[in-house]
Amino acid sequence: MGSSMRLAGSVAIVMGAGSCAPGWGNGRATAVLFAREGARLVAVDKDPDALAETVRLVEAEGHGCTAETLDVRDEDAVADLVRRCIAVHGGVDVLHFNVGLGMPGAVTEISTADFRAQLDLNLVSLFIACRAVLPGMVERGRGVITAVGSTSGMRHPGHDHVGYSVSKAGMIQLMRQIAVCYGPHGIRANTLVPGLMATPLIEHRVAKHGKRGSLADLQETARRRVPLGHRGDGWDVAYAALYLASQEAKYVNGTELVVDGGFLAKSP
Ligand SMILES: NC(=O)c1ccc[n+]([C@@H]2O[C@H](COP(=O)([O-])OP(=O)(O)OC[C@H]3O[C@@H](n4cnc5c(N)ncnc54)[C@H](O)[C@@H]3O)[C@@H](O)[C@H]2O)c1
Repeated sequence: MGSSMRLAGSVAIVMGAGSCAPGWGNGRATAVLFAREGARLVAVDKDPDALAETVRLVEAEGHGCTAETLDVRDEDAVADLVRRCIAVHGGVDVLHFNVGLGMPGAVTEISTADFRAQLDLNLVSLFIACRAVLPGMVERGRGVITAVGSTSGMRHPGHDHVGYSVSKAGMIQLMRQIAVCYGPHGIRANTLVPGLMATPLIEHRVAKHGKRGSLADLQETARRRVPLGHRGDGWDVAYAALYLASQEAKYVNGTELVVDGGFLAKSP
């Protein structure tokens, strides 16, 4: 798909626009693609270096963007960011929420504090961001919210990951609640659901913890469990995000766009 300015003039906030490690994660690919497609990009991340690299890549393609270093768990900082976006740009057209992390473990293997921390980062932060953008979107009678979930939120991923899975399941319901409640105000809310992806987060985590085996093991898992036989990448997620944010998806609301090479459709 070449650039067709699908987001021309749209003010798009991408939360988690850096990358967990060098390379193209879901957030960085989405941020760069949104800018390429004409969005007035507001790139948000808590890691200033990762964010600076995304900005560098956006600018290297001749586009502009505003960079905001903040922690999406900080409700005051998120509310302030949205206020400033409205003051500078006149409103927020797209909120793309990409932040998400998990730690492996079953119910008796992780602490309550660790469970809570995963809900806090993945789900409560999404709630906070939605609370911040929705009033302005209602006022203008338009807006798009896309949450990046995971196939782990729809079925057991094959390894125990209770905090992550429950938080990702909650994101789907949060998007559906918003879709129903705010659809009449012209607002669309959906969950983009990636499956087994070859992104820096996964490669980095595997290299660090080795909990899910080596990279070769992950590739073998994908070969067995994904009908297409391999993992996806950040650009697969980015193009799905672009579609959901664009006018071409104007009738898509309250649903899940699964980007998993057929993983969910296949029995393990
Ligand atoms: N990588 C995969 O295989 C995979 C699979 C399914 C779903 N997902 C989901 O895709 C999303 C992106 O994953 P990714 O692996 O591509 O990561 P990514 O490379 O897009 O990095 C996420 C970014 O979020 C930032 N971030 C983390 N905590 C933050 C906070 N509190 N405030 C602000 N920014 C914060 C990080 O600094 C990082 O730059 C996540 O929601 C993840 O759960 C990933």
